[in-house]
Amino acid sequence: MTQGLTVLGLESSCDDTAAAIVRQTPGVHAEILSSVIFGQTDLHAAFGGVVPELAARAHAEKLDICVKQALDDSGLTFADLDAIAVTAGPGLIGGVMSGVMCAKGISAATGLPLIGVNHLAGHALTPRLTDGVAFPYLMLLVSGGHCQYLLVRGQDDFTRLGGTIDDAPGEAFDKTARLLGLQQPGGPSVEAEALMGDPNAIRFPRPLLDRPDCNMSFSGLKTALLRARDQIVAEKAGLTRQDRANLCAGFQQAVVDVLAEKTRRALRIYMEIGPSDPVVAVAGGVAANQAIRSALLTVCAEAGATFVAPPLKLCTDNAAMIAYAGLERFRTGVQDDLTLTARPRWPLDQHSPSLIGSGRKGAKA
Ligand code: KG4
Ligand code: ZN
Repeated sequence: MTQGLTVLGLESSCDDTAAAIVRQTPGVHAEILSSVIFGQTDLHAAFGGVVPELAARAHAEKLDICVKQALDDSGLTFADLDAIAVTAGPGLIGGVMSGVMCAKGISAATGLPLIGVNHLAGHALTPRLTDGVAFPYLMLLVSGGHCQYLLVRGQDDFTRLGGTIDDAPGEAFDKTARLLGLQQPGGPSVEAEALMGDPNAIRFPRPLLDRPDCNMSFSGLKTALLRARDQIVAEKAGLTRQDRANLCAGFQQAVVDVLAEKTRRALRIYMEIGPSDPVVAVAGGVAANQAIRSALLTVCAEAGATFVAPPLKLCTDNAAMIAYAGLERFRTGVQDDLTLTARPRWPLDQHSPSLIGSGRKGAKA
């Protein structure tokens, strides 16, 4: 790359419509020139989850506006861009199609090269965008729809070391909040309650810790929470504030312990390849959790690895990560054309066997 590259990215695979422009100049950190996100939380609030048809329609309505705002915010026009990158999967198919169609339209009208990006690659490459992390690094993707450990050796070279076989931790946090009458999204509410609780008052299971691999399971924790709640209600004819805090603290501690131990195991595998400057990075909404962050920080410190947590707005769904992942692909000569298709499932690691389970927010890969 002798000259800088400027790429427009589009994201519409779940419930955020986003557009962003990222520029990389040789020898300089990548720069986010603009990043626009239209969330759909209110649209789906009454349904207790994302409604795919409503999401797709809202994406189709908002994408043009997002693109225009991203251009305006950066002070650029299409003529200043080198390529357009778009999430081509995995995700809710209607939303992914909306994005791919929009990107194809722009590409056909402007002649800009089109690059299809795997949404998970966007998350997995974010530490390079934010912190310039060098390959190979270990990535923990942990959100409402995903939970997996990835060994990232190159912009298109991912090995999945393990992942959830059922729910993602974010789903478990959200369900816990629902069962205890706390606000959605559940993660922040449960974390706040947990601060006032005793993590040892009620014992929760640590699923799959007895297995030596890096796979995880979180659906049993929801059932355990339901049982514990009902038992307290049956014994005391209701839940006190302290009971609720104890339930949150016990549940969160179980998630923390599982993630810490499985990270330890993933780290052992990663360290065997002998990285000169070992890095463990996180992405996804659950990475906002302070108890999880501090446990991961401790695990990394024990192993002599650096812990990298991008700013939260880049850990959750956004288009800057898609623009950046597209930029990395484009730089290595990868390019798509108007035959690019939207894919509901698209595992980053094509070689590892697929994990069972599919989450509230779409297919897990
Ligand atoms: O990455 P994200 O914005 O969206 C996807 O899932 O794709 O993650 C949202 C998830 C929700 O399930 C939310 O409850 C969870 O991340 N979350 C948290 C916290 N903040 C958000 N979970 C635990 N602790 C938090 N502080
Ligand atoms: Zn995501």
